[in-house]
Amino acid sequence: MIVVTNTIKVKKGHGETVAGRFQNSKGIDMSPGFVRMEVLLTDGVEEYDELKVSTTWADKASFEGWMNSDSFRQAHAHRGGQQSGADGQQGESVMLGSQLTTHRVLVARQSSH
Ligand code: HEM
Repeated sequence: MIVVTNTIKVKKGHGETVAGRFQNSKGIDMSPGFVRMEVLLTDGVEEYDELKVSTTWADKASFEGWMNSDSFRQAHAHRGGQQSGADGQQGESVMLGSQLTTHRVLVARQSSH
């Protein structure tokens, strides 16, 4: 398994609003090899809000398949930067940056109760 995390910086005070946009699936859960996804708001950052979009996949090929899919494209049609936001979606101007990190899962445990 692998975990791929997209760390998104947004303007201070906008983290929860942007996180809300992840609430309804844009189709990732139908993607082959998708295991789970979590959106985390980092505690203790002063200057901006930081979200970590953590995605877990069966393997690297599954993640790459989703990255190259229409599902990914559609989920990111309004991410800000290139699009005008003419549909009134929030967040176009609040994005400050994003960074991708990839991890191999070496140990995983789950609650037994
Ligand atoms: C410039 C880079 C990126 C930005 C600013 C960004 C931002 C966003 C935003 C705002 C959404 C919510 C979609 C909506 O409002 O309809 C979204 C969806 C999503 N993004 Fe990104 N994203 C970026 C790249 C990536 C990358 C490289 C990944 C890989 C892990 C990723 C993972 C996800 C996932 C898992 C969803 C939900 C998809 C679904 O529900 O089907 N994002 N992204």
